[in-house]
Amino acid sequence: MGKYVIKGGNPLVGEVEIGGAKNAALAILAAAIMTDDVVFIENMPDEADTNVMLQAIESIGAIVERPSRHSVRIHPSHITGYTIDNDYIRKIRASYYLLGSLLGKYKKARVVPPGGCTIGLRPIDQHIKGFTALGAELHNEEGGIIDARADKLEGNHIYLDVVSVGATINIMMAASMAEGKTIIENAAKEPHVVDLANFLNSMGADIKGAGTDVVKINGVKKLHGTEYTIIPDQIEAGTFMVAAAATKGDITIKNVIPKHLESISAKLVEMGCQIHESDDAVRVVATKRLQNTHVKTLPYPGFPTDMQPQMTVALGLASGISIVTESIFENRFKYVNELTRMGACIKVEGSSAIVEGVDKYTGATISAPDLRAGAALVIAALTAEGFSTVEDIMYIERGYEDFDKKLRDLGGHIEKVDSEYDATKFKLKNA
Ligand code: EPZ
Repeated sequence: MGKYVIKGGNPLVGEVEIGGAKNAALAILAAAIMTDDVVFIENMPDEADTNVMLQAIESIGAIVERPSRHSVRIHPSHITGYTIDNDYIRKIRASYYLLGSLLGKYKKARVVPPGGCTIGLRPIDQHIKGFTALGAELHNEEGGIIDARADKLEGNHIYLDVVSVGATINIMMAASMAEGKTIIENAAKEPHVVDLANFLNSMGADIKGAGTDVVKINGVKKLHGTEYTIIPDQIEAGTFMVAAAATKGDITIKNVIPKHLESISAKLVEMGCQIHESDDAVRVVATKRLQNTHVKTLPYPGFPTDMQPQMTVALGLASGISIVTESIFENRFKYVNELTRMGACIKVEGSSAIVEGVDKYTGATISAPDLRAGAALVIAALTAEGFSTVEDIMYIERGYEDFDKKLRDLGGHIEKVDSEYDATKFKLKNA
């Protein structure tokens, strides 16, 4: 199981390398099986979620080689089945991307319903709307398996009722091998949506407009192999930016695309941080107490919902009162209870948290409720007075590679322990 034991109070200082984007990698791994040629992908993050996705495509016969920790070679021609159903795939959200890719290539797919962080109801009605518009028939089998099949897929004009990253990605994949033209209106514009479109186009797809709210796809009969490098992880980068701000540190975050971080940088400047940008790095310096501000999460290029918990932790230490409004998911403030136990003064009213800055957090035993909230609570513990223990870290390890090591290399006193004995040893060493 594992826990993190943390001794707070040290500013984080130094350099950190950002890995490949988890949410791009999950979509790209699903899309990789749409060809029968070999696909070689670099800058693949080594995280629980991406490794589960690799196991899922192996489970239907694809051969997967790992020439290095961050590269993968996939041989999809060996695929013999189209049913994705096992315990581990039920845990991750992105399992449903295999609906879009299998349906696009084989015109049939049977996939377990998506799991993922419990931050809201997370329906998939827009995915179903898109697949149906392309000519597929979907129904739920007992046990929850979603069965999707089509005699053929035909392009259509699809208007998403809500800006959905997953639905945009899933429909894009299915439409890329449909007959004729598909237009997706009100499409999501996140960097990982664009990365998937670029990946599919490198395989011979014909997708235009990704990154805008109108994506146009001319279906093709076949997709060919490719070699591709995944973009850096916007949210991992943002997490370290906020960690620098909250611990009054000075961190240079390397291997990033600064444009993807603009909304986060802008907020940190409002809070009194200095931001220095270069071509592929962002340096965050926070020497004085943070100032309050207001944050509202929005689809890209707005402030990312996946950065909401981290930002709330930092604002919880800022001077004055801040308001954080979560407009994407309906239940993404669960971590506030844990943070309150560390001394935070936050009141959740509907979709907003009213945050009254306190001078410090105090170490406590806390539990990670989901991936990004877990990372945020680690940041809180790194600022806190005394020792903290963060439990349920499997959520954090789903989307952050070597999280504790990267924080240790920045001067953070954090260790992953598997026993009370090791926890005690850490506390004695850092007393
Ligand atoms: C993706 O989730 C990400 N996950 C999430 O990141 C991220 O928070 C989210 O996009 C928003 O950016 C992956 O990429 C694996 P949505 P997704 O469809 O696709 C509603 C992380 O921490 N909606 O954009 O599930 C939905 O309920 C994770 O890495 C419908 O109503 O998000 C939500 O309110 C957490 N019907 C809103 O749209 C649908 O059919 C946005 O959801 C689909 C979505």
